Amino acid sequence: MSTSAAEHAPGHASADGIAARARGLTKAYGSGETTVLALDSVDVEIARGRFTAVMGPSGSGKSTLMHCLAGLDNVSAGQVWLGDTEITGLKERELTRLRRDRIGFMFQSFNLIPTLNAVENITLPMDIAGKKPDEKWLDQVIDTLGLRDRLKHRPAQLSGGQQQRVACARALASRPELIFADEPTGNLDSRAGLEVLSFLRDAVDDLGQTVVMVTHDPGAAAHSDLVLFLADGRIVDEMERPTAEAVLERMKRFDVIRGQADTAGDTSSDVSLDKD
Ligand SMILES: Nc1ncnc2c1ncn2[C@@H]1O[C@H](COP(=O)(O)OP(=O)(O)OP(=O)(O)O)[C@@H](O)[C@H]1O
Ligand SMILES: [Mg+2]
Repeated sequence: MSTSAAEHAPGHASADGIAARARGLTKAYGSGETTVLALDSVDVEIARGRFTAVMGPSGSGKSTLMHCLAGLDNVSAGQVWLGDTEITGLKERELTRLRRDRIGFMFQSFNLIPTLNAVENITLPMDIAGKKPDEKWLDQVIDTLGLRDRLKHRPAQLSGGQQQRVACARALASRPELIFADEPTGNLDSRAGLEVLSFLRDAVDDLGQTVVMVTHDPGAAAHSDLVLFLADGRIVDEMERPTAEAVLERMKRFDVIRGQADTAGDTSSDVSLDKD
């Protein structure tokens, strides 16, 4: 069954429980013949107090979607709201303040400052904002992520996984209302990955925070409440209460559809939202 995006945007958020929302979100890179349509008129609602995962093939627009929802990238067309605030059209200064005060972002590349040590990186956004960290919370974040004995190390002195955990701690340190995480477990061993996922899960369940996470790993997606599937810049499917097995099966189906589309000489996978 095909569902009209106008009457139901993927995400299932109730009117009062929307942490972030996009309508007709379109993002094109480049111009002329080299234009890449990274997002193609996406409608989505991110429910407050839930853990949403975003999956899809490489290049399907996952990072672009997160960047646009977080106000880190401008959009080509469409509108984005953070809570009740429309962020498309905000001046850069207002946007900077909003990002700083309300959003935590874990980038696919860690984006740590090389000249600062771990704890300085973790508290940097708050230092810039002139805010005092909640020490008890900060301690909890640092211990959960196993960073206690690495706080004085600079990024170059840390392993990839440790840098990932510092980036995770930085996103969580100010207790933002909305956390975006782009493949937060991509560089971690399974144990450290599980710890990060449990931490994000607890942040949602115990602290009412909202998490949106991009992942390629069905096991990681299984920690979420809802998976949104992206293909070719569109949300083509969603899955409530995912299990690793169900996510894996669903992803296999996309591969089949993609293969069929390629054979037919049409690379756009126009999959309708089917509910089962
Ligand atoms: N700055 C840019 N300039 C030009 N094209 C870009 C830029 N950033 C992304 N793209 C293109 O937009 C599309 C979506 O990219 P995006 O990074 O959102 O994909 P993704 O789903 O996050 O992929 P991955 O799983 O590999 O991280 C890709 O085709 C990519 O090449
Ligand atoms: Mg990406």
